[in-house]
Amino acid sequence: MGASDRSVVISGGGTGIGRAIAAKFAGQGDRVTILGRRADVLRAAARVIAGTHPVKVVTVDLSVPEDVEEKLGELPERVDVLVNNAGSRGAPVRDGGLKEVAERWRRDFDANVLPAVLLTEALLPRLTRPGGRVVTLSSLAALRGNGAYGAMKAALLAWNHTLAQQLGPHGVTANVVVPGFVAGTEFFGEPVDEKEIARRQAQTLVGEVGEPDDIAAAVAFLASPEARYITGEFLNSNGGAMLGR
Ligand SMILES: NC(=O)c1ccc[n+]([C@@H]2O[C@H](COP(=O)([O-])OP(=O)(O)OC[C@H]3O[C@@H](n4cnc5c(N)ncnc54)[C@H](OP(=O)(O)O)[C@@H]3O)[C@@H](O)[C@H]2O)c1
Repeated sequence: MGASDRSVVISGGGTGIGRAIAAKFAGQGDRVTILGRRADVLRAAARVIAGTHPVKVVTVDLSVPEDVEEKLGELPERVDVLVNNAGSRGAPVRDGGLKEVAERWRRDFDANVLPAVLLTEALLPRLTRPGGRVVTLSSLAALRGNGAYGAMKAALLAWNHTLAQQLGPHGVTANVVVPGFVAGTEFFGEPVDEKEIARRQAQTLVGEVGEPDDIAAAVAFLASPEARYITGEFLNSNGGAMLGR
């Protein structure tokens, strides 16, 4: 048994920020389950994440309710920490036709709101009461704007208020981590070029872009027993980019 030994479920735990979060909890001795659509990516992550227990992998498309229901049997019976990290950004609208506008907005809703809502609803009965933790990943785009993606990440902030109200009486907290730009993930598709990284760096007050481990540290704090009195909140981690230069 590790120092912590909690059951931690992390959506999108096969890459980027989610993988760093998985490594953080596994390193603390927790029993980690990572979720995503690509089995090979999840398995590769599970192999390299070092911890006391083997990392469990569940392949699921969290935007599809039937798929979430079908995979419930593979998810842990007890969930001490649920991290809603899965999400992605759609391509910008090109020709501006309303059909395309509607498709892009629906796509970003499916990609960013539904995975958090469906997984949380499915696991609600399994959350440890008292002591359970739900931590959801939003984005600085929710606060500074960025089309449909930013709007969907803002929706998660509003949703989290209700979740915190619902879970508070059971001794379970619900909070959101709001990352600024984080390099080295699959989020932007191709690797981000140096010019863009320099531009993002210049937007921060600390003169550095974020790394997945920075976000994992914020998630681990909100999931810790020490954070028991914090709920319905969001925690920015952006090197001061919210204030800008
Ligand atoms: N990187 C940044 O600058 C940044 C900034 C602010 C917020 N964020 C947020 O941080 C979170 C992690 O992003 P990241 O940068 O680490 O990008 P990433 O490497 O693309 O990670 C996203 C993960 O989510 C999984 N995923 C996406 N849709 C899913 C679905 N429908 N069902 C199951 N799994 C799904 C992906 O795996 P599969 O494709 O295999 O499903 C992938 O592992 C996202 O919510 C993102 O919006 C990122």
